[in-house]
Amino acid sequence: MGLSLKEKYYQMNNNDFKTLFIIEKLMHNYGFVPLEVIENKSSINQNQVKKSIEKLLDLGLIISETSPFYGYQLTFNGLDILALRFYFNKKIIIDIGDKINSGKESDIYNAKLISEKDAIIKFHKEGRTSFKAIKRKRSFEFKKWNSWIELSKKIANREFSILTNLWKRGALVPEPIYNNRHSIIMEKIDGVELYKIKELSEEMLKNIINDVIVTLKIAYKEIGIIHGDLSPYNILVSNGQNSRGYIIDWPQFIDAKDKNADLILKKELEYLASYFYKRFEIEVSVEELINSIKGGN
Ligand SMILES: Nc1ncnc2c1ncn2[C@@H]1O[C@H](COP(=O)(O)OP(=O)(O)OP(=O)(O)O)[C@@H](O)[C@H]1O
Ligand SMILES: [Mg+2]
Repeated sequence: MGLSLKEKYYQMNNNDFKTLFIIEKLMHNYGFVPLEVIENKSSINQNQVKKSIEKLLDLGLIISETSPFYGYQLTFNGLDILALRFYFNKKIIIDIGDKINSGKESDIYNAKLISEKDAIIKFHKEGRTSFKAIKRKRSFEFKKWNSWIELSKKIANREFSILTNLWKRGALVPEPIYNNRHSIIMEKIDGVELYKIKELSEEMLKNIINDVIVTLKIAYKEIGIIHGDLSPYNILVSNGQNSRGYIIDWPQFIDAKDKNADLILKKELEYLASYFYKRFEIEVSVEELINSIKGGN
């Protein structure tokens, strides 16, 4: 079905939400939750439950197994809807917008906070590609599926914690707002990824590099981590006259004490430096970058 997440959300009535919640709760024990169990646990009558299940299937929020019994489990979209329900109920957001990015392991949507500020919601979807394969085979690999959901929740939580830690220390990262299930809400940076920028004055670039160093230094010296996936794709340059450089996408961060950390940091900085040179013909010394991150106060 071609409905957007927002459209799906607004098609849901209370019975549908209740049914979806029951499936979410019980799929840890059952994998595919038997229809009978859903009916038993539900406060709504059997007919209503059946109607809701039909609708949830239609909306792609659950999938079914028909043998050896009728059973249902959540899809990632089902999980998205439950997280959205949480954010709307808690009055954290007042609107959900378009999908702005669909990566291998995450979906990103625009949203509006109660303060009317723009935000984004990042839904982690680990193992999504494997899940498609599972669905095709229609096999009973629900244990695996449950573990993908649990992993996505863990990673969202990990990203939220590290963003909080970085942000409160003054690093240039989006302000984290909330974390629920496999998702996080954060401030929307009004800007573009560094890799999309064709031209940049030397002064602007210096400012951006400076911002990047400030953030990497806080990460390294105060928190004891490195980013682990630093690239022009994960640096957002804010629009406007005073461009700033924000580093996003932190869930894969690596402990600075890890035996490979220094080497990875060096590689990431070499990559950035060579990018700056190729793209903007501006030379930056990797050694100086490393010194500013690791040295001094
Ligand atoms: N706080 C934000 N403000 C504005 N745009 C953002 C923000 N966070 C993410 N984006 C946009 O979404 C894209 C993907 O975000 P992010 O890098 O966090 O996810 P990802 O896991 O790398 O996704 P992918 O699977 O595509 O690599 C970013 O490149 C950026 O365009
Ligand atoms: Mg990224």
